[in-house]
Amino acid sequence: DQWDLKILCMGAGYVGGPTMAVIAKMCPKVRVVVGDISQKQIDAWNTDVLPIYEPGLLDCVKESRGRNLFFSTDLDKEIDEADVIFISVNTPTKTQGIGAGAAANIKNCELCARHIAKIATSSKIVVEKSTVPVRTAEAIARILAANEKSDVTFQVLSNPEFLAEGTAMTDLMNPDRVLIGGPQTPAGLAAIETVAKVYATWIPRAQILTTNLWSSELSKLVANAFLAQRVSSINSISALCEATGADVSEISRAVGMDDRIGKRFLQPSVGFGGSCFQKDILNLVYLCETYGLQPCADYWRQVIQMNDFQKKRFSEKIVSSMFNTVTGKKITVLGYAFKADTGDVRETPAMFIVRDLLQENAKIHVYDPQVTREEMWLEMNYTCGVNHETNPRLDEHVVTATDPYEACKGSHAICIMTEWAEFKTYDYQKIYDAMEKPAFLFDGRLHLDHKALREIGFEVHAIGKPDPVKFPGSTIA
Ligand code: NAD
Ligand code: UDX
Repeated sequence: DQWDLKILCMGAGYVGGPTMAVIAKMCPKVRVVVGDISQKQIDAWNTDVLPIYEPGLLDCVKESRGRNLFFSTDLDKEIDEADVIFISVNTPTKTQGIGAGAAANIKNCELCARHIAKIATSSKIVVEKSTVPVRTAEAIARILAANEKSDVTFQVLSNPEFLAEGTAMTDLMNPDRVLIGGPQTPAGLAAIETVAKVYATWIPRAQILTTNLWSSELSKLVANAFLAQRVSSINSISALCEATGADVSEISRAVGMDDRIGKRFLQPSVGFGGSCFQKDILNLVYLCETYGLQPCADYWRQVIQMNDFQKKRFSEKIVSSMFNTVTGKKITVLGYAFKADTGDVRETPAMFIVRDLLQENAKIHVYDPQVTREEMWLEMNYTCGVNHETNPRLDEHVVTATDPYEACKGSHAICIMTEWAEFKTYDYQKIYDAMEKPAFLFDGRLHLDHKALREIGFEVHAIGKPDPVKFPGSTIA
């Protein structure tokens, strides 16, 4: 037929959608189908209101959709037709049973493997794109092998994804590396080459790294653990800065200029969020425990404990600064997504601050340019168990605003929770004039111009920054 290769991706989420859109764009002779069990998800991919917000994604999808990029729920048909099947389904932390709260739930990956085994009438390369515990490929390969029909064979590879949300398209177009792990056998190496060739269409060979299966699976967990560790490290120092008059931004700069340390991922914050960091570290912690390596498990768990401390510390700072009570006070939360340029709210630090303020009976108004109220409550219920049944007056206590000025009007405090660029462009004099006094501003992202805000009259508290009253001379007044 007309195609060089036929690819199916099972899972049309934050990873499957953008990754396949880029492959389709760069390889017009490869037929790419993104499949999902959710009809709603697939229907959205087939419109111009995609199920996820990611800068540049819509244009990329539109370029290939209907040409060599298709979105479908007909998984039976597409499994049978595909040469290469990526598994890009969600692998969340288990919420019950053995390893609850730490182990990754790989049920969806196993279901995909069983689905493939049941349907396939020709040989396939099956590629783990999902982030999984090391040695998951062994389970997938065994399930596939146990169901092999004559003349049908399977090669299982690992090709973890390193894209970050908000920059997914540029990360995919220009990745630091592509990692492909596989069995070091003739058939395994040939399968690796088939997948490597796809990426080599636009990525230099030197950046396509091939390893054995287990190194590839484990590298993904290690990369996320290292990145999160840097954030927790600088956040731990931010607490010490607030106590001593040192300035955490100056420290990030001074430390990051050492080439051995590097500048990136030293931005202090109210804590890291997102669907990956905590889940993948917990996954690593659980693996260490499973292999009897308790000191290694404890070492990595500390990265999460520091993150929890940072979020808690921020809520406590708000309450203690505002005369130890926020009961009945309007508090404005600007930004709810876990980082800028995404609508994703999974594990967003803003959620924990809202939960804490809710417990203090504050009246919270949230404004975020991309987050819908529905997604906010879904995640709040899933992660914090806060819902309309546990909190009958939830709608009264947490209002979502569509206009930032309206959200700030009559408010006692503003909390910056996400580093959206538009927050820098607001008229803070106008906002200040319409607020209760003293007007507090808590900057959880070191995003705004604190000097200018103080000149207007705001009382500014920012992560890791010296308080000019407590430490005169530590900052230019
Ligand atoms: P997601 O929740 O956005 O999407 C997963 C999709 O898989 C959902 O649409 C779901 O309906 C579908 N699905 C579940 N079971 C299925 C099945 N049996 N058959 C077909 N479809 C099925 O998840 P995501 O954020 O895209 O993450 C996917 C994987 O990639 C995870 O393992 C994650 O850890 C990893 N990852 C995520 C990111 C990220 O930034 N989000 C980055 C790198 C790696
Ligand atoms: C992360 C990894 O970066 C990516 O490689 C992997 O594929 C998926 O997980 P993501 O979670 O999308 O990506 O975003 P990332 O930019 O890593 O940020 C994660 C969290 O850390 C965000 O809440 C962000 O605000 C926070 N962060 C990041 C900081 O607080 N400080 C920093 O210096 C960097």
